[in-house]
Amino acid sequence: MSSIIDAGFVKAFAKLCDDAYNKGWHERNGGNLSYRIKDEELKPYLSQLSFDGEFKPIGVTVENLKNEFFLVTGSGKYFQNVKADIENNVAIIEIDESGSAYRIVWGLASGGVPTSELPTHLINHSIKKEKTNGLHRVIMHSHPANTIALTFVLPLDSKVFSRELWEMMTECPIVFPRGVGVLPWMVPGSADIALKTAELIKVHDVIIWAHHGVFCSGADFDETFGLMHTVEKAAEILVKVLSCGGKRQTMSADDIGSLSGPYKVNINTDFLK
Ligand code: 13P
Ligand code: ZN
Repeated sequence: MSSIIDAGFVKAFAKLCDDAYNKGWHERNGGNLSYRIKDEELKPYLSQLSFDGEFKPIGVTVENLKNEFFLVTGSGKYFQNVKADIENNVAIIEIDESGSAYRIVWGLASGGVPTSELPTHLINHSIKKEKTNGLHRVIMHSHPANTIALTFVLPLDSKVFSRELWEMMTECPIVFPRGVGVLPWMVPGSADIALKTAELIKVHDVIIWAHHGVFCSGADFDETFGLMHTVEKAAEILVKVLSCGGKRQTMSADDIGSLSGPYKVNINTDFLK
């Protein structure tokens, strides 16, 4: 039987880590990634998991994730190392029957714990599972420089950020039609940041944490990476535009709104007023 290391979802997880590291979004142990594994993906490998570990409290209760399995990066582990040594840098965790505790069933072979942002990942998986009828499975947190830079110069307001980023590339309102949510600075890994992010993720797929990074949700690895990439590229263009003395012309709210029909997306009209 083949090793779980060669499973398609494990390889795709490692590829995202590698691609995101190569983009410069994951210095040192910066950022984290989680994937809600499909039953059929895990089934062939159940004999390679170990179910004798202790359940530990998550810190939040995620009832609709009970008995689910997640692949997650380890706390303090580097995205840079995931592809070459996945078994020591990531873990598969199982959520218990109550949705309030987890245990490691595979990975982190030389010790460690899941990302310190686990409560935020799981509470947001819970909401996205419900809101997308199970479609969304990936949550990614990165530290992309241009988006972080903008949190020092733009007002920390979801509408302002969404409009500015939408205007930077015509594809942006199509890729993130609900806009981005923006949160002020908060302590990473805290219950507070988890709950505030959860409020915003009900509406948006992208949340910007001021002076820290970006939190994205998507259906699969490509879509989630692509979303992070699009947001960060738009931010890079805006940084360049501001460095060149600011906009002299741009897309109007009507221009942005006119993309909804042809591209069959529901652009957030609250942000077009
Ligand atoms: P972890 O190493 O615990 O995943 O933390 C990295 C991070 O980016 C926290 O926000
Ligand atoms: Zn972070």
